[in-house]
Amino acid sequence: MNSKLTALKQLELMNALEKAREPRLFSVIDLKVKNMLPQWLQFSPDVFWLNHPEEQKNLEVFEQITSFFLKQGIQRGHMIAGIGGGATTDMAGFVAACIHRGVKWISVPTTLMGMVDAGFGGKTGVNTNHGKNLIGAFHMPEDVWICTDFLKTMSRMEILSGRGEVLKYALLSSDIHELVMNTKTPMEEIIMACASFKMKLTAEDFRESGSRAYLNLGHTLGHAFEHTLKIPHGIAVTMGIKYLLKAMKLDAAVESFEEIFKSLQLDSEKVDLSNYERFDKNAFWSALNHDKKKTGDGLKLVLVDSVGNPRFEVLPVAKLRTLVEALSDFKT
Ligand SMILES: NC(=O)c1ccc[n+]([C@@H]2O[C@H](COP(=O)([O-])OP(=O)(O)OC[C@H]3O[C@@H](n4cnc5c(N)ncnc54)[C@H](O)[C@@H]3O)[C@@H](O)[C@H]2O)c1
Repeated sequence: MNSKLTALKQLELMNALEKAREPRLFSVIDLKVKNMLPQWLQFSPDVFWLNHPEEQKNLEVFEQITSFFLKQGIQRGHMIAGIGGGATTDMAGFVAACIHRGVKWISVPTTLMGMVDAGFGGKTGVNTNHGKNLIGAFHMPEDVWICTDFLKTMSRMEILSGRGEVLKYALLSSDIHELVMNTKTPMEEIIMACASFKMKLTAEDFRESGSRAYLNLGHTLGHAFEHTLKIPHGIAVTMGIKYLLKAMKLDAAVESFEEIFKSLQLDSEKVDLSNYERFDKNAFWSALNHDKKKTGDGLKLVLVDSVGNPRFEVLPVAKLRTLVEALSDFKT
């Protein structure tokens, strides 16, 4: 089962949410987007508001939400909406997966990261003290409603983070590459192309045993950067792609990376390790050793030889470390 992906203007979104009230709608919503929602939803007693979604993406808050919805009388035939960035939709989807052993849910991503990647695909879950996203479930949203009007209030840092994921798609798909390289392409068109690309891979390989894992390009080094530098996910992924392609000497892909980077007006200062004063190399490699994609001593890496041509390669961590540390701009 795949989700229905629809681009909606703000008014159309209001109408769609209104229809979803039948028979009853329970919501998990990022407080930051409250003012952009209809009055009835702002004052609905069936909303659990998140004010710090990433910090609240844990089992304790999961318990609070499920208890609250059960107390309010949620039934299996009701609908749950997740309205917010990736942290909010991950939580809403996980609540929907578990409550009454699964109720239907709708995802309304409100960040660029959510619109191109995090807000759909069926991976839901929470973080634990042992790492991010380690407890969760696969549970597809019925509908994904993308309304780019939400992006107007996003910070520059969060926009850069989302564009980092767009860069990933532009390396994986020649169609998206073409759209991104044309600076006149409206952002909405790029977003819908990225979202459709992920939907297609998800439909082919829901549980990520094959081609869906291409979407992990840059994530092995990226998660370790995110963990050690405490930077937004998409910026860390951009760094992950940059250092991986360079370390593996994939020159054609490095050249494309740089062209896409420029076209998306990304910020080179944010992805250059030498600009981060406190970088703990040992913590970085230790975080990488805990990567979920690790099998034995090997890491299953996604590499790109040229735009639109991804492939997998398993490499021992020690070998990857030698190659990455040999890069002059990895030294700090
Ligand atoms: N399920 C998946 O397939 C998947 C994929 C990638 C990432 N993720 C998860 O997604 C999360 C990252 O997503 P994210 O970057 O959207 O994070 P996020 O949900 O933490 O949102 C980032 C920030 O933007 C704020 N925000 C949300 N909408 C806004 C708006 N319209 N205007 C202004 N501010 C707004 C949030 O309050 C937050 O401060 C992580 O938890 C990550 O693990 C999930």
